[in-house]
Amino acid sequence: MTALRLVCLIVVVTIGLVHSLDIPKIKDVPLLVKTLKNLNRGPPLQVMTKRVNVQEKWITQKLDNFDASNSQTYPMRYLVNDEFQTEGSPIFIYLGGEWEIENSMVSAGHWYDMAEEHKGVLVYTEHRYYGQSVPTSTMSTDNLKYLDVKQALADVAVFIETFKAENPQLSNSKVILAGGSYSATMVVWFKRLYPELIVGGWASSAPLLAKVDFTEYKEVVGQAFLQLGGQKCYDRIENGIAELESMFANKRGAEAKAMLRLCNSFDDQNDLDLWTLFSSISNIFAGVAQYQSGNDISYNCDYLLSFNDDATAIANYVYWAWGMGTCIDARYEGSVEYYLWGVDNFGASRPWYYQTCNEYGWYQSSGSRNQPFGTKFPATLYTNLCGDVFSSQYGNEQININAANTNEYFGGMEPDVENVYMTHGALDPWNPMGHGVEQGATLIANASHCADFGSIKSTDSEEMRASKEKLAGLVRQWLA
Ligand SMILES: *[C@@H]1O[C@H](CO)[C@@H](O)[C@H](O)[C@H]1NC(C)=O
Repeated sequence: MTALRLVCLIVVVTIGLVHSLDIPKIKDVPLLVKTLKNLNRGPPLQVMTKRVNVQEKWITQKLDNFDASNSQTYPMRYLVNDEFQTEGSPIFIYLGGEWEIENSMVSAGHWYDMAEEHKGVLVYTEHRYYGQSVPTSTMSTDNLKYLDVKQALADVAVFIETFKAENPQLSNSKVILAGGSYSATMVVWFKRLYPELIVGGWASSAPLLAKVDFTEYKEVVGQAFLQLGGQKCYDRIENGIAELESMFANKRGAEAKAMLRLCNSFDDQNDLDLWTLFSSISNIFAGVAQYQSGNDISYNCDYLLSFNDDATAIANYVYWAWGMGTCIDARYEGSVEYYLWGVDNFGASRPWYYQTCNEYGWYQSSGSRNQPFGTKFPATLYTNLCGDVFSSQYGNEQININAANTNEYFGGMEPDVENVYMTHGALDPWNPMGHGVEQGATLIANASHCADFGSIKSTDSEEMRASKEKLAGLVRQWLA
């Protein structure tokens, strides 16, 4: 198992390419969903250099933390590595987000190294409705009403109290949290809601502002391709997508469909199908940029530039990302059907999609002119999906209200917390939703999403190393 994971890891680390979207083929996953799953996978796995004994444990949580009359419970999973544990060990909790927890985050990397320095206990908690911490028998819209960040944060508070109560050696221990992406957001918001339970936190790539029409995201994806792949690559993307858009707009749809190897059922007269296609294409580039490291982008650009014309390059690139299987399903209805199938089939990404409709939006649209991915993927595509997949209650207006409520409750860009260190990659497309340098966050040049969890190493850029050392210094202060 460990060996296998290590092998997979090496493959992912050294290739890290667009064609490594390894989604299990339980049901054919339509192109849009496939690209979204790729974007919502957890933080990069840490490279494990030794065998660590990680224990899997469970805690009973209330299904509804805010309704005393509801006595239903569910088992929440967590992982523990207590190899450094001693009397009064500080507790280093990494929060799970919209993914399944795994051993590497408590077995290696910077968080692990700091725990070793402080003789800390390492814990990784799983978020309700993800991985194996599933509270309800189906993912119906009604059952998903117990899924939101407030419930998840309350679970973490109960977890901390229970874990200390169950471990006499740790009853007076200090607790610090870490998280990446959505779970970094949770670190910030946990400090806001339960400041007395933790002494500090590390939030890597935390979006703080809920926003339905997230136009900035694809701008940064474009910047990543421009800065790390060069102007020719950027132009190829921009011109190729523009050419495909114009073919569909000018009665050359059949030709464009054939080039892209779309399934026959794709209806190029239907806006929703076109939006689904162009959204997916831009998401393929986003999937590379969001987790790029090393030469990922230049490798992808070399491929794009190996063709003679722009549109052919994009079409072949999309087919490559698809896995070169049979025809590409880029229909809107295909995505709706898939998410509805997810009512009875876990792992189909319904829970995160639900959270976006209910709490955040964050739909990465074509609303900005300063990005190379064209004009054909408005946020409306995604808000429509909310309505068709969950409930007609989720219209555009309601989703905007939901996002505004989230900002009101958690303070948006002003969460008003102390002792939380926020880091971002300067080329992470999520960074516009989080704190900038003016607000005290650290932006690491050339880095992507959740790129700073690895151990301090000689290949780190100067800024990467400085940020990791700054964090280590803060942790020393918090635990002193
Ligand atoms: C960022 O990457 C570019 C392209 O590889 C390189 O030229 C530049 O020196 C890097 N900047 C930093 C601060 O590492």
